[in-house]
Amino acid sequence: MTLPITVVTLFPDMFPGPLGVSIMKRAEEKGLFALSTVQIRDFAFGKHKTVDDTPYGGGAGMVMRPDVVAAAIRHAKKGSPNAKVVYMSPSGTSFNQEKARQLASHEGGLILLCGHYEGIDDRVLQAEVDEEISIGDYVLSGGELAAMVVVDAVVRNIPESLGNANTLHEESFDIQTEAGEVLLEYPHFTRPVEWEGQTVPEVLTSGHHANIQKWRMDKAYQKTKKNRPDLLKGS
Ligand SMILES: C[S@@+](CC[C@H](N)C(=O)[O-])C[C@H]1O[C@@H](n2cnc3c(N)ncnc32)[C@H](O)[C@@H]1O
Repeated sequence: MTLPITVVTLFPDMFPGPLGVSIMKRAEEKGLFALSTVQIRDFAFGKHKTVDDTPYGGGAGMVMRPDVVAAAIRHAKKGSPNAKVVYMSPSGTSFNQEKARQLASHEGGLILLCGHYEGIDDRVLQAEVDEEISIGDYVLSGGELAAMVVVDAVVRNIPESLGNANTLHEESFDIQTEAGEVLLEYPHFTRPVEWEGQTVPEVLTSGHHANIQKWRMDKAYQKTKKNRPDLLKGS
């Protein structure tokens, strides 16, 4: 199955960018996802191809017009009629691994709408958007970088996109304790066994699988407690 992903943007030249290399490149070559873009400006009117206007009620900045943006989304929907339309927005719900998994399993695919300037006229969001997603509590200049983050995280969650399926289950946010808590990943080491006075923990070179697993879970728990106590129960 190929997951179709269409990015609706004023800056299609930014794509595929980082999505055209490494794991993402291989996943697209394997047919696991297909990335395309729709240029919002193609749906603008007049000789100046204006896509934005001043906000009603006054204030700084420009707002993207509902008629232009809706036409671009509707064009994208013609190619992917069952796609979920997601607006990349700092005021959306927080993006996380669970959301990445959900979006990866949406067979109809995704249409990722990228705003710019002050954002998009709210009426088009009401009419055409299924979900608003934020990639973090900060404001970017446009939705394109956010869309790239979402595509990368989503594609990693398509079965077969990573060479070794176990890789995903051993990653941060995929490791679970028996109590059902989600943990960050344990630390990794590779050769040489000694580097600048630091030695690889002995258990990792012991070949004792059960001890290695216990050590990793302990370290994952300690790291989570230090860096993200909010992920642990009772926090
Ligand atoms: C300058 S921002 C608009 C910010 C908006 N006026 C506000 O205060 O919420 C322009 C565009 O960048 C994108 N964007 C900015 N921050 C984002 C974030 N944290 N997550 C996802 N998209 C973001 C959105 O598509 C947004 O329409």
